[in-house]
This record gives sequence, C-alpha cells and structure tokens, in this order.
Amino acid sequence: MSPVSLLQDGEVAVITIDNPPVNALSQPVRAGLVRCIADAEQDGQVRSIVLMCAGRTFIAGADIREFDRPPMEPHLPDIVSRIEACMKPVVAALHGTAFGGGLEVAMGCHYRIAVETAQVGLPEVKLGLLPGASGTQRLPRLAGVQKALEIMLSGDPLPAPEALASGIVDRVVQTDLATAAIALALEVSGRPPRRVRDLPVAAVDPSVFEQARSNVAERARGLFSPAKIIRCVEMATDLSFDAGCEAERQLFLECKASPQSAGLRHAFFAERETGKVPGIDGDTPLRPVNSVAVIGAGTMGAGIAYACLSARLPVRIMDNSREGLEQGVATIRELFDAGVKRGKLSDADRTAGLARLSTGNDYESLADTDLVIEAAFENIAVKKEIFSALDRVCKPGSILATNTSTLDIDAIASATNRAADVIGLHFFSPAHVMRLLEIVRGRATATDVIATSLQFAKRLRKIGVVVGNGFGFVGNRMLYSYGRENQLLLLEGAAPEVIDRVLYDWGMAMGPNAVGDLAGLDVGYRIRRERSNLPDDPRYYRVADLLAGMGRFGQKTGKGMYLYEKGSRSGVPDPEVQALIENESKKLGIVRRSIDAAEIIDRCIYGLVTEGARILQDGIALRPGDIDVIWINGYGFPRHRGGPMHYADAVGLDRVYARVCEFRDRFGAQYWQPPPLLEQLARDGGTFSQFVASG
Ligand code: 3HC
Repeated sequence: MSPVSLLQDGEVAVITIDNPPVNALSQPVRAGLVRCIADAEQDGQVRSIVLMCAGRTFIAGADIREFDRPPMEPHLPDIVSRIEACMKPVVAALHGTAFGGGLEVAMGCHYRIAVETAQVGLPEVKLGLLPGASGTQRLPRLAGVQKALEIMLSGDPLPAPEALASGIVDRVVQTDLATAAIALALEVSGRPPRRVRDLPVAAVDPSVFEQARSNVAERARGLFSPAKIIRCVEMATDLSFDAGCEAERQLFLECKASPQSAGLRHAFFAERETGKVPGIDGDTPLRPVNSVAVIGAGTMGAGIAYACLSARLPVRIMDNSREGLEQGVATIRELFDAGVKRGKLSDADRTAGLARLSTGNDYESLADTDLVIEAAFENIAVKKEIFSALDRVCKPGSILATNTSTLDIDAIASATNRAADVIGLHFFSPAHVMRLLEIVRGRATATDVIATSLQFAKRLRKIGVVVGNGFGFVGNRMLYSYGRENQLLLLEGAAPEVIDRVLYDWGMAMGPNAVGDLAGLDVGYRIRRERSNLPDDPRYYRVADLLAGMGRFGQKTGKGMYLYEKGSRSGVPDPEVQALIENESKKLGIVRRSIDAAEIIDRCIYGLVTEGARILQDGIALRPGDIDVIWINGYGFPRHRGGPMHYADAVGLDRVYARVCEFRDRFGAQYWQPPPLLEQLARDGGTFSQFVASG
C-alpha cells in the first residue's frame, strides 16, 4: 500500500503522507506524491489541494538511509518542482518538524499553514549536507538572505510563530490544523498559483557573504558544507532560479559523497541505536524515578544535581563536610543564575528549580529516594562505605548508582545485599553540559534498572550508552591508550603545544595536554595510584606524574603542562616543562627526534582504535557505533569523522592494521600488538561496522 493517499473533500483534495516514524521522503513517498498531485490536478471537481501528514510530524526530511544507496527516481528536486508547477493551489499543513526536504516540499507548495507548536528548519548542515531540493534558492526568496543563511548555517529549528514573522509560513493556528488548512485551500481556490520561484531575492550588501565566510572559517573548523551553503545563497542573488537550483544540486551531490557527510550520518544513526539494548524493549518494566539524591557536593555532584533539577526532579544533595555542602549549593545557584543570565531560564524557573533542592547529611533521609547517585571521592573504600550505608537505609527497589569513572561496579555492589539494584551512571564534566551518560551494568544489575537508567538519561536530555564493567568502562579505558601515546610522544620529542595543535587541527575539540590541565593532572594521578595493573614501563604517564607530583595540577593551580596567567584559561608553553621533559627523556635513554603530524595523529587515534577493538572483543561495548557515540559526545572526537571506529573503517582496516604492525615493529608489542579482531577484519576485507556482539 502506498504511504501517500488522496481523499477528496468537496472541492479540496487532501493528500496525506503516512510513512512512520517521521514521514521521511523515501522513494515510495516520492512516487506517491507525484501520482497524487497528478490525480488531483486532473480531477475536474478539485479546485485546490492540501498536503499534510499523519502521525507525529510533517515530513522530517529526505530519507537519510537512502543516501548510502544509488539514487532512485523520482528525485526530490523534481517532486518539489512538480508540486510548484501544479495549476491548482497547493497548501502545505505543517505540524511537528518540517525539516530538510520536508520544508523544501512545503516551500514548493503555494501556501503554508502551521500549527503553533510546529517547527521548521533546514538541518542538512548537521549531516554535512546542504539543502539539495531547492531550499538554498527558495528560503532567501521567502525569508531574505541574512535569515536564510542563519537558518541553514546553524541548522537549528525555528518555531512556527518565528517562521511566520520571517515569511516562511503564511498562517499559524493554535489547533485543528486540518480544518484550518482546508479552509485556507477553499479561500485560495481559483486564485492563480503563487510560486516562490517567481519571487525576487531582496538585494543585500555583499559584505554579508564575506562576514558569513569568516564566521564559518572560525567556527566550522574544516567542515566544507557551510561554505557551499553560502555559495548557493550567493548564487540565489545573482543567477536565475533554475541555474541556482542546478548549481545547488551539483554541490549537494559533492557533499553527499563526502567522508564528512558519511561520518555525520553515521553519528546520527549511531546515537539513535544506543537505546536499543538486547533484552530490553517497550515491555521491560520501568522503576519510578520521582526523587533523586546526590551524594558528594563537589563539582561533579553539583553538576549532576543541577542536571536533575533542570529535568524537574526533586534532588537532595549530601556531603560529609558542611563547607563542601555549602560550596555545592553555591555552585548549583551559580548554574541557575548563569542560565537566567544567558536567557535560557526565567526567574520563575530558577526559583522553582532551587525549591526542588534540599540538603542534608543524614542517610536516613534517603529512605524513600527512588534514585541515589553517588559522586564522592574516586576511592573504592569510600564508595563501599557509602553503598553499605545506602543498603541499610534505602527502600527496596531504590536504584543505587555510582558516578565512578574507573572503579569496579561489582566491587562497589558487593558492599550491599542488593547488587541487582546497583549500576554505574558515569556523567562527564561539566555534568549539566555534556550529553553523554555511560550506563555501566554490573554482573548482577537488573534489566529494569538498566531500562530505567536509559529512560533517566533521556529525561536529562542525555545520550545513555550501556556498557560493561571493566577498568575505565569504554571511554576512559580508551583514553588511557590515547593519553599514553601523547605522553610517549612528549618524551620522544614532540612538544605539548605541537601535539595539541596537530590534534586540534585534525578536529579534536582540544588537544590532550590542554584537556589534562583542564581536568586537573591530580585526577589522573590519583586514579593511577589506585590501579594495581599499571604497565611495567617507566615511561608510562611519566611527564604527567612528575608535574602532578610538583603540585602543577593544571588550570586550577595556574601551572600544569602549560602556564596560565591569573584568571586565564588558555595556557602558554612553559620552558620549565620543556626542560623537565627533555631531562626525563635523557634519564630514560630516549633519543629525541623530530616527529611529524601524521605520526602524532596515527599513534594517538590508532591507540584509540586498537583499544576500541579490544573493548568489542571483550564484550564491554555492544557495537562499534556505541564507542563512536561515547567518543564524540564525551571526549570531543570530531563528529564529522564519525567516531574512532567509523574513522578506522573509512581509512580502511587493512591500512590501519598495516600501520599498527609498523608501530609494533618500531615501538614494541607491549602497546601495539594488533588485536585479533582488527587483524581478522583487515584480512577479510571487513569493517568494524559489520561487527555483531556474540552472546
Ligand atoms: N531519514 C530516515 N530516518 C529518520 C530520519 C530521516 N530523515 N529522521 C529520523 N529518522 C528515524 C530515526 O533514525 C529513528 O529511527 P529508529 O526509531 O529506528 O531509531 C526514528 O526516525 C525517530 O527519530 P528520533 O529518535 O530522532 O525521533 P525524535 O522524535 O527524537 O526526533 C526528528 C524526530 C526531530 C525528526 C529527528 O529525527 C531529526 O532531526 N531527524 C533528522 C531531520 C533531518 O536531518 N532532516 C534533513 C534530512 S537531509 C535532507 O532532507 C536533504 C534534502 O535537502 C535533499
């Protein structure tokens, strides 16, 4: 059955698309649209047409899944032209999210009416694309060049009332969209079609494009679709509509074929896959989470509490020191104040949020709490003590979560008599900003506790990724390989600022040495002291350990790998550190050499990839895409490279394997023995994306 149907309502023909979940413009939808428009046009009784969608949204865009397959007719730009060419007025009725190709179809219609809650947008840039079905030529005609650039370069949605003010829609209604759309269709029937292609593009000063280019060069860091979007809009101002569309099509196809778009599309789908966990489905019962307690009011605890308060949950925060608790509450207040200052929150939101916060240091008060999140000191004895107290006081069914970043969840659970209720909820700093939540299942964690944690992540607007228990879980375990190579490169001859610059230019949000100073070199130092299985290697994190030992903890002490002027967050290279590193290389008998950018990138990134392969082999991650999501959302891995595992697939695993073997031969097997999974896939011509977890 076609997902597009035509129903006649007196003089109005109503075309309805019903292609769940988001009415994407897959081939059957495109074919159905052509057919229904032709039928309605030919029907002598029909005087005007309404195009609307069933389900939760108007068309949310082209079907992104089709982009990896050969294109199939009819093509979207032709559909939009066909609708616009219709001799009878066509009214688009928008609800939900009219995005991408969806908005392009709507702009091909002669009138647009939207329900107040609808949103419109051209988010293609987020997928490494540009609007490829005349969006870059139509939007400037409707909304003006400046607004069109803003919408397409940000990719962010516009609420219907704003779309009305910008001229993108003609009318906004509060309810009963279908009736209002039919009324509008009756009102305009008999009028000649009003076509966006015939509108002029309002003249602009050419400096608008220069300004947009310079903003993009500064912010888009190596992404190439933003510059192409600007070019298309510029063409809308100086080419005919048809020539502009033709040029847009060529640039769209270039973007679609690019590795950047492949990486971004992979990230889009991988983020949606993470919620799919074997053994958990819509029937899995959920535990109620109507109250939260956070134990530990440090930076992390306060950030977690704020994230929960922002999700409208009542939160009790505890700390064993009074000053610590006061400081934590002050931090939460500051976060609310900052939200108000930035215009994200109203005064009323702040008052209501703070009213949901309570404090204390008596465990008994947690008896009725649904979810307790421990965010105390990273020390197993401290954590066990807390969990044993929680076990004593919390009601049956409370979820007992730890925010540990490296420690063994099973060991923590062993301090209770209810290991099934214990889980890791690993937030990333700053907890109210970072979207990632590693959900760490212990050996005994109950299925409903995992399902509830996934739901909780959604409630906090975070991406929950379920991972297995094991040192550092997924993210931090891989970080150790990445950081190890950074540290070895320092000793072998690469300066901290050189390594940081190379990896930043490659796309990482920050270089590893700047990250270390931001997080605090004392943090990693303490964690390494807790580990019993550190490699037997005097070079291992040698520079970081020396600096931490000297009290050079990073930004917070004004000195770390870099030097910080008072109040400044950007460090400058410190000759003392360079001398210390050179001295250490000498002591360890390491001959310093010049190291090129390619080696820095390959050693750090393949350090990640090889550890990622071991994590898959060990069953700690369910799929390579989960690893990618973790690194993109928790560690600043460039989204357009799709995450470390997707990046390796894109390079080709045979090439990755060959380089890893080269490193093994040059630097030894201790760190560079290729994992069997990588070796096997490279030999078979396979990719990580084909990996299916066993058991
Ligand atoms: N194509 C194919 N599948 C899509 C899709 C699309 N455009 N948009 C969403 N989906 C799928 C998701 O993968 C997910 O599938 P799953 O249930 O199997 O995991 C399902 O639809 C629901 O999506 P979400 O989980 O994201 O649902 P939400 O309600 O949270 O969000 C949404 C809905 C706001 C529409 C969001 O999905 C979204 O932003 N989608 C992408 C929109 C987009 O980028 N459109 C432009 C596409 S490119 C284009 O149109 C090119 C053109 O210019 C030629």
